[in-house]
Amino acid sequence: MIKIENLVKAFGPKRAVDDISFSVERGEVLGFLGPNGAGKSTTMRMITGFMPPSAGKITVGGFDVAESPIEAKRLIGYLPENAASYPDMTVEGFLKFAAELRGLGGAAKKKAVRRVIDLCFLDSVLRQSIDTLSKGYKHRTCLAQALIHDPQVLIMDEPTDGLDPNQKHEVRNLIRELGANKAIIFSTHILEEVDAACSRAIIIDRGKIVANGTPEELRNMSELAGAVTLQARGASAERLATLGRVEKINGAFRIYPRDKSQVGQLAQEVVELVNLHGWKVEGMYSERGELDEVFRRITLPDTVRK
Ligand SMILES: Nc1ncnc2c1ncn2[C@@H]1O[C@H](COP(=O)(O)OP(=O)(O)O)[C@@H](O)[C@H]1O
Ligand SMILES: [Mg+2]
Repeated sequence: MIKIENLVKAFGPKRAVDDISFSVERGEVLGFLGPNGAGKSTTMRMITGFMPPSAGKITVGGFDVAESPIEAKRLIGYLPENAASYPDMTVEGFLKFAAELRGLGGAAKKKAVRRVIDLCFLDSVLRQSIDTLSKGYKHRTCLAQALIHDPQVLIMDEPTDGLDPNQKHEVRNLIRELGANKAIIFSTHILEEVDAACSRAIIIDRGKIVANGTPEELRNMSELAGAVTLQARGASAERLATLGRVEKINGAFRIYPRDKSQVGQLAQEVVELVNLHGWKVEGMYSERGELDEVFRRITLPDTVRK
């Protein structure tokens, strides 16, 4: 549904987006991760046709965004970073207006407005003007606007930014549900969102893609992934060291696999060693790895960014 080839955006001498390629199929929710200034918003603006690329090609549903912008945009719903809305309009008025902009009228318009009101839980604020809404409702109104024409492609720039934990949870659930039969890209710098809503994630740093995979694959890039932590009376670091590198943490031992492909085997070997020496196990678990660690290791912190 979305295909991006060698996309570049230069602002003067600086390349905000530097030769990135990826695609998103229907049924996929792609998390677009990266530190501030990585190029996430710029990429999304180009996909939605709001900013022309310096080089590269974007197709949405088979339509080239540069050559057939109208056909491409028809397929896209877009929630921009600081979604503009119309403060004096009521929620209902705004959604009707959004439907009209998308070419809907009469019964189709009514149906479309009803659908997004239900989807985004806006029933209780329909006649309220937008400037009187709480942040969460304002946000959902913008989301409803992006969904009004039931787009096949949904591009959302930090859709959970500024929401409270309950609202974040709702929006993530909604994204996951919608993802079943749409192609979705949403940007975030909240790593737990990747687990909660994405089928795949791309990490972008200084305009370049530095990782692309399922949440599980990304987590496996973590140093911790596959390590076994053992707390057992009588356990000896020397004996455990025959299995792999051992680290002592708060009275427990953490053993790192020599080879990441033999993750299951390490746990088995630890169990055998435990049994052999009759150590009394108080706790043992395999580490999944942490997205946080992967993110920090492969992206540069904001403070050293130029
Ligand atoms: N219109 C613009 N003119 C000049 N520089 C820009 C413009 N828009 C974005 N940038 C720069 O491009 C880089 C990427 O920005 P952005 O895409 O907003 O990052 P992100 O959304 O990942 O935080 C930043 O360094 C930003 O300052
Ligand atoms: Mg941004």
